[in-house]
Amino acid sequence: MRKKEIRKAVIPAAGLGTRFLPATKAIPKEMLPLVDIPTIQYIVKEAVNSGIEEILVITNSNKHCMENHFDRSYELENRLLESDKQEEYNMICDIANMANIYYVRQKEPKGLGHAILCAKSFIGDEPFAVLLGDDVVENHDGKPALKQLIDAYNSVQASIVGVQTVPEDDVSKYGIVEPEKGEDVLNRKVKLRSMVEKPKKEDAPSSMAVLGRYVLTPEIFDYLETQTPGAGGEIQLTDAIKNLMISQSVYAYDFEGTRYDVGDKFGFIRATIEYALEREELRDKLQAYLKELAQTF
Ligand code: G1P
Repeated sequence: MRKKEIRKAVIPAAGLGTRFLPATKAIPKEMLPLVDIPTIQYIVKEAVNSGIEEILVITNSNKHCMENHFDRSYELENRLLESDKQEEYNMICDIANMANIYYVRQKEPKGLGHAILCAKSFIGDEPFAVLLGDDVVENHDGKPALKQLIDAYNSVQASIVGVQTVPEDDVSKYGIVEPEKGEDVLNRKVKLRSMVEKPKKEDAPSSMAVLGRYVLTPEIFDYLETQTPGAGGEIQLTDAIKNLMISQSVYAYDFEGTRYDVGDKFGFIRATIEYALEREELRDKLQAYLKELAQTF
């Protein structure tokens, strides 16, 4: 098989964001900011820093402002220049130049697997990456989570899902992997035997959960096309990956980095506080405030 580079990524962003209503009535959840940067921008940055050149965002009719965010904004640019705000001008131009971003609409909310299927003609016959917008991963000075997965893909030339161990009580929120018998689960990279979407705690084959990063071979589309609805009545990516294992090897990679579930209110608040503590202009004030607040608990 000819070795193909991972150049393209898909970011599904067609969810309704019901967990963040009313904020998400008119604003896509992907535009909610951690401090002052919309969560989708963190995801696009991770893709770009991992070597991705072309990004397809799967949207719905309510997501226009996400497209505007990654576009030029001449009126704002001119105003910033006129008022001598060079730094802000550079910042907003940089966002528009981050990557080649394309958009396609998922016309019905039929699940993550169905959303990925909408990327079929954009991807063509290449392996590609998937980054879920609810999973923001920070690995500070280390390799971005997706880059770790791409490097692992290059060594095995097979589909690979990014995992981390989660508390047993949380397995029912995730896709859970089942390593092949005899695989040493302490290795970062393990070959898989199966995968299950949102199992009950007592049925979970492990506590290694897929946390929003995938590198997939294009054959996944053959399985997505015929995939019947699974957990929650939705077409699940997990089920298609499990079926892909019939014809190809699939691996899991335990990636390094802190993952924030920004699709969850507590996860979002935690990420906001931690990202704010990383900001020089906010750190001292916020630390002092948090210490003062902790005294009252
Ligand atoms: C999706 C996937 C699931 C994965 C999770 C990671 O679920 O279906 O396999 O573990 O993202 O965040 P969702 O959170 O969209 O229900």
